[in-house]
Amino acid sequence: MKKNNFIICRCEDISWQDIDGLIRKGFTLEEIKKLTRCGMGYCQGRTCFNILTRLLKIREQNLIPKKRPPLKPVIIRDIIKYFENEE
Ligand code: FES
Repeated sequence: MKKNNFIICRCEDISWQDIDGLIRKGFTLEEIKKLTRCGMGYCQGRTCFNILTRLLKIREQNLIPKKRPPLKPVIIRDIIKYFENEE
């Protein structure tokens, strides 16, 4: 493994080199997410988001990703219960 080729998103097997290459080609963060599915796998960004954010800050990129809900999986039954109790 090369020095800068460490894995950022292990569930989609995306390395820093993959992300860095896309940044250099001018892709936006949203495009990078759609192309690589980084942050959209099993962890839903809970692991890779922090790594990606730190690396982008180091690179002084203005591409800091924003977290969007849900931050953790929600059981549909709990959502239904929530709305049933609201009525
Ligand atoms: S490690 Fe793959 S989505 Fe976070």
